[in-house]
Amino acid sequence: MSTIVYLNGQFLPQEAAHISVMDRGFLFGDGVYEVVPVFKQKLFHPAAHLQRLQRSLNAVEIPFTVNEPELTAIFNELLARNTEAAGTQAIYLEITRGAEPQRSHIFPVNTQPTLFIYCFSVPTKSSAEMRQGAHAITIDDIRWQWCFIKSINLLPNVLFAQRAKQSGAAEAILIRDGMAMEGTSSNLFIVKNEVLITPPANEHILPGITRDLMLELAASNQIPYVEAPISTQALFQADEVWMTGSLKEILPIVRIDDQVIGSGKTGVLCNRMIDLYEQNK
Ligand code: PDD
Repeated sequence: MSTIVYLNGQFLPQEAAHISVMDRGFLFGDGVYEVVPVFKQKLFHPAAHLQRLQRSLNAVEIPFTVNEPELTAIFNELLARNTEAAGTQAIYLEITRGAEPQRSHIFPVNTQPTLFIYCFSVPTKSSAEMRQGAHAITIDDIRWQWCFIKSINLLPNVLFAQRAKQSGAAEAILIRDGMAMEGTSSNLFIVKNEVLITPPANEHILPGITRDLMLELAASNQIPYVEAPISTQALFQADEVWMTGSLKEILPIVRIDDQVIGSGKTGVLCNRMIDLYEQNK
């Protein structure tokens, strides 16, 4: 059976869903997106994702008002229509500025944004698999200054992720002006002297929903944490490092470039955060 997707008001088989070659998402990468994980058939923090979507839309001035109940109903309808996918799933949603008659850098007038949503299976990770430490590489963060927008312009992230894969690493940690920012599709956490540290949610990182959850779980479980810049030196000297994201979930990092981090194994606090996160799923 073919996958059913949602495009501009219609549920369609994936092969029948088409957009115009004049769509600004295709021509300019002029759009924003969200990824909402679905654990045990339940959307995970959909409201937080949709609020971030509205912030991205506002930042790039795409005239689209997020209607949370309406979009949530579409997500659930897609899940109901694609029941053969078992296990963990995720919703992908993309909104572009729409199709225009003539390619022009200037925003078109009276153009209907394009809305595309589909759901897909994510390989399920057991908690034991989640606890296996991974390798990361560091890479110069040459992205733009507005990384808080969840833009579909992901070419740097794509190139960095490919570079990581070619090095046998699970993620690349992006370094801007000597400071560790985030991953290609994840946020960064370190532990030093039993304090959890994550870079502040400024314009240089995407304010992750999983990141927010980590901080909420830390606060409600009396785990000391700070949002503070992390220098490259602090990164390499950390007792523990992990990355978080909707698809990567919690990814312990035990080696960065050629250097072992902490004990070289998933740390005590990371294991605790995985337990708390799993209870929350
Ligand atoms: N990416 N930083 C970047 C650059 C990201 O692309 C993502 C997520 C995150 C983590 O955000 P969240 O916890 O809300 O998923 C941080 C998605 C999953 C993606 O591009 O597939």
